[in-house]
Amino acid sequence: MVLRPPQVPQIQPEQPSQDASSKPKQSPEDASMTNGIFNEYNTTAPTSTSNRALFSLAHKTAIVTGAGAGIGLAVAHSLAEAGANVAIWYHSNKSALDRAAEIEKRYNVKCRAYAVDVTDEHAVWHAVHSIAADFNDRLDIFVANAGIPWTQGRMIDGDTAHYRNVVATDLDSVFYCARAAGSIWRQQYASGNRSLSGSHELQHYTGGSFIATASMSGHIANIPQLQSAYNAAKAGVIHLARSLAVEWVRFARANSVSPGYMATEISKFIPPETKRVWRGKIPMGREGEAEELKGVYLFLASEAASYVTGQDFVVDGGYTAV
Ligand SMILES: NC(=O)c1ccc[n+]([C@@H]2O[C@H](COP(=O)([O-])OP(=O)(O)OC[C@H]3O[C@@H](n4cnc5c(N)ncnc54)[C@H](OP(=O)(O)O)[C@@H]3O)[C@@H](O)[C@H]2O)c1
Repeated sequence: MVLRPPQVPQIQPEQPSQDASSKPKQSPEDASMTNGIFNEYNTTAPTSTSNRALFSLAHKTAIVTGAGAGIGLAVAHSLAEAGANVAIWYHSNKSALDRAAEIEKRYNVKCRAYAVDVTDEHAVWHAVHSIAADFNDRLDIFVANAGIPWTQGRMIDGDTAHYRNVVATDLDSVFYCARAAGSIWRQQYASGNRSLSGSHELQHYTGGSFIATASMSGHIANIPQLQSAYNAAKAGVIHLARSLAVEWVRFARANSVSPGYMATEISKFIPPETKRVWRGKIPMGREGEAEELKGVYLFLASEAASYVTGQDFVVDGGYTAV
């Protein structure tokens, strides 16, 4: 489904505001601390303890960006398999529409594909709010996964326009997605876990889970290919998620996943000889498959990770262990 204005407004969400006076006086963010000290019992432990309950995403609504293929698609499968209704976002890859139909049929959940440019702050805000309204009036999980590579080698010789595009897609977009998703989780929390429209109490709601796809490149500088702008953007993603975890502690968890080299479209432009060099730097001697990330995203999305926030999970075949 392509998200266009005529299809959208079931609700008219407030727009991101620059006006400080419009912010709530005592927000959940402020209420988590007194004089710079965290208050006791900002959160509570889950009541269920069985693995089946902890890992179930039944009734939950998830949004995954960059999900027409690659890591995002694997994550969408993972969340849907655990019972979540999933909105998958794409940019240019229209096969996402078919992928959504397949997910819906295979896991018996709701799944739709939406064309959203994650570098467009207002499009992101509008899409998040209208999809949440459309998906059982709630949001539980947001996976900010869309990204592009740096393809111009030495930074001194690269274009500034390319730098801006990489940072806009890989870092700014995560901020926009986080702001839109976080505004819903704050509202759901402030209303006593009621649905967005306030019409009913949310079932199986345990606060929001924000997961950003960072990269091992946020920890190390890759060689032989040079990609400083990408590495810096991904380091920013890791620290943004960590910071959100603190800011949002009362109403959402925030974590990041840092994959190593995975076999997806994003590295299609890299010559085979460079990929051979990569393999010599990975103890497991191979690139990962996108499906090998399903478990870590499911864990972070679910209540099994109820005490996990502000962390980065490196999944790299041992690259950063050497
Ligand atoms: N593969 C790896 O080795 C690796 C390692 C570490 C981290 N990562 C990260 O993992 C994430 C997913 O990458 P991938 O490996 O699965 O490669 P991929 O298949 O190329 O996925 C990238 C996705 O980002 C989407 N995207 C790009 N620009 C966008 C925009 N302006 N608005 C909305 N969506 C946009 C693309 O959508 P369309 O195709 O629809 O245009 C695509 O689905 C990225 O953040 C990447 O940096 C990948």
